[in-house]
Amino acid sequence: MKILAIETSCDETGIALVEGHKTPAGFTFVVLKNALLSQAALHAEFGGVYPNLAKREHEKNLPILFKEFENEEVDAIAVTRGPGLEPALWTGVGFAKKIAAQWHKPLLPMNHMEGHLISSLITHTHPNKLENVGMSGELHDVALPVLALLISGGHTEFILMKEWFKYEMVGETQDDAVGEAFDKVARMLALPYPGGPEVSRLAAHARSIKDRPLYSDAKDGPWKLPRPMLNTNNCDTSFSGLKTAVLYALRDQGGIQKLSADEIAACAGEFEDAVTDVLVAKTKRALDETGAKTFVIGGGVAANTHLRTTLTAEVQKEFPDVSVQLPELSITGDNAIMIAEAALLRRLSLHDDATEEDFRAVGNLSIAG
Ligand code: KG4
Ligand code: ZN
Repeated sequence: MKILAIETSCDETGIALVEGHKTPAGFTFVVLKNALLSQAALHAEFGGVYPNLAKREHEKNLPILFKEFENEEVDAIAVTRGPGLEPALWTGVGFAKKIAAQWHKPLLPMNHMEGHLISSLITHTHPNKLENVGMSGELHDVALPVLALLISGGHTEFILMKEWFKYEMVGETQDDAVGEAFDKVARMLALPYPGGPEVSRLAAHARSIKDRPLYSDAKDGPWKLPRPMLNTNNCDTSFSGLKTAVLYALRDQGGIQKLSADEIAACAGEFEDAVTDVLVAKTKRALDETGAKTFVIGGGVAANTHLRTTLTAEVQKEFPDVSVQLPELSITGDNAIMIAEAALLRRLSLHDDATEEDFRAVGNLSIAG
């Protein structure tokens, strides 16, 4: 079965053609075509994504990217209906409706976060080819329940999947998403948007300095930051106070202009440590509370090396029976491959109750009912 998927929820315009099969052992996937255009450079001057600019760019780029797909034979079209920026989502949904009508194919409205979750559960083999074409994936023997930590620019949530495609919210952020906090801290440190990878690069540098003179893990170091909600009796998180604490720490040290490169790196390192400490503690709590057998992370922030290694090590240490699944790095950020894979898995496992002809984009669509 072949599905063409369209993703326009934020600042990436994505179209992908993915083929999927049901096998005796599970499911296999192969990316036949993939087109992805990032608007990040355009939004950089606003320091974040500017919704109407995103919409305009999607409108301009979708027909251009689609040229490569216009002679394809597919079984269905899938499109992200939410969550995301509504003006951006409308563009993709409108475009997908038009193609589905022209091609007389079913249209599957998809949840962006489900795309992150399902694609992260799939074990991919990356052939190192341009644009991920030829990348294959396999899904089999996933032990339920699955606990997913979904971390992106707009979301920070623990989702429990006891049955395939049925999601329960176990905990979520009370304010900023992790990715948003990374991006805002990056701005304070005068790093370009999107800031997550930049902050992470500086943090790694700080950790690599041998005696770490400035990178403080001492309780009273100048960069010591809080671990918000670390000990609260739930799996919720909060990152807005952490971001403000960075602002105050920078001010107390005389402002960014007065700081050396190593001091800025120390601040980035402590910020990443604080985020990691909170997410590790909440993950352990969530695994305890839910008895999940598989733990997976997904979303743009799931590319973060420190978080990946620390979460994996901590979970394996305390929950040796839990299987830890990390997403393929080349598809942690927004893309249409993940939307196609989630749609394929639904259809191939006969969970295609999502087929609808008449639906609207929903900016704040939740994955958990
Ligand atoms: O899932 P995604 O591509 O888009 C949304 O659905 O929001 O996530 C984007 C977010 C941005 O905030 C970006 O800074 C963050 O993911 N990000 C990272 C890293 N790579 C991307 N954050 C921390 N470390 C990274 N390596
Ligand atoms: Zn995303």
